[in-house]
Amino acid sequence: LRTQVVIIGAGPAGLLLGHVLHRAGIGFTILEARSREHVLGRIRAGVLEQGSVDALTELGLDADLREHGLTHRGIHLQFEGARRHIDFVDLVGRTVTIYGQQALVRHLLAEHERLGSDIRFELADVTPLGLDGSSPRVRATDAGRAIELDADLVVGADGFHGVCRPAIPGLRGLERSYPFGWLGILADVPPSTDDLVYALHPDGFAMHSMRSPEVSRLYLQVGHDASIDDWSDARIWDALQTRLGVAGWTLHEGEVLEKSITPMRSYVASTMAHGRLFLVGDAAHIVPPTGAKGLNSAIADVVLLGRAIVAGLLRGDDAGLHGYGDAALARQWKVQQFSEWMTDLLHVHEGPDAAAREFAYRSQVGRLEYVTGSRAARQSLAEQYAGLPFTTE
Ligand code: FAD
Ligand code: DHB
Repeated sequence: LRTQVVIIGAGPAGLLLGHVLHRAGIGFTILEARSREHVLGRIRAGVLEQGSVDALTELGLDADLREHGLTHRGIHLQFEGARRHIDFVDLVGRTVTIYGQQALVRHLLAEHERLGSDIRFELADVTPLGLDGSSPRVRATDAGRAIELDADLVVGADGFHGVCRPAIPGLRGLERSYPFGWLGILADVPPSTDDLVYALHPDGFAMHSMRSPEVSRLYLQVGHDASIDDWSDARIWDALQTRLGVAGWTLHEGEVLEKSITPMRSYVASTMAHGRLFLVGDAAHIVPPTGAKGLNSAIADVVLLGRAIVAGLLRGDDAGLHGYGDAALARQWKVQQFSEWMTDLLHVHEGPDAAAREFAYRSQVGRLEYVTGSRAARQSLAEQYAGLPFTTE
């Protein structure tokens, strides 16, 4: 079997890259380890930067987003019982769009099915080979049968636990782990807020997000060893009421439709390209979710790599492919420091004793007073949250 580009992984990054290649008339096959139902069932991220929305629009993939996405002009930062609004439109003239990763994946997959794209699910033993030479290939087992695909390029869009990153010789991971995670729920209740609320509370971080005018998404900071079995729905709502509560505002409760705990880490691979293999999205980097950057970074990588592949395969201009790894990492490190900063700003940190913990907390309140009180600081937050440019200027 032969195709121009083999994409490993049918998450948002792999599916979107498929659409970029389709538009340019470049042949591709997407190989996915899990079932179609599993891919469609994952909930995950919820915020799209304006650059991500623009990229989807350019590809003509914005119909569902226009219908169901919720445009937000800012966020609320909450601390010490008060809520302060950061207005992105006023500060940087940009908005963000609430549109679940699950809806995006459903739409991208539906469009691929309409186009008749070659996407194979439930593959085992996916193995990229011959990456150093000019004719890489990928081996896999499809319903018990061995298959091998020859290609010009292989793209690793296979997430953090995929097989492509480990296939790069000498690759190192630079990382930071956090001693806490996020417990997230999806609740059958209209959101109690207009823009998202990010709250620092002595008990821990809490956030109020949403998926639609009918469905709320809420998160709580929990210990890194927390078990979902210890968090009954009643305990979750109790903690949310305490951490998100402000005078004169009511958090409406509803049936918990889904709940899970996500560990938090920062990770960046030392390189995103090797020979004819290119990494995009979580395969190359992970951010803690606080700045809503995971999905947006995957989209930024795809836009950059998509352009480079089109130039390389259609015009024989390989400069973009040669420069891809460094360009993607340069943008990614800016995103990393923002996600780390938002995480440190809003989570309660462990310390050796009560005095150290109190110092850390007071210092965070000082930072929040500064960020919300200074137009220059608000503007910096807004610029980064609404999204840095997809190129590396
Ligand atoms: P993925 O979505 O991980 O897709 C990778 C695909 O590759 C998957 O379909 C996987 O099954 C497939 N695959 C893996 N191994 C193989 C293999 N060997 N062969 C073939 N296919 C393979 N970001 C936020 O901004 N906000 C959030 O609230 C948020 N919550 C998250 C919660 C969880 C539990 C996780 C894991 C991530 C969360 N993220 C969040 C991050 C965000 O979802 C990711 O950044 C985004 O999914 C990256 O897309 P991707 O396509 O690169 O990777
Ligand atoms: C959501 C997730 C985030 O990480 C974030 O910063 C904002 C919103 C969400 O899932 O809705």
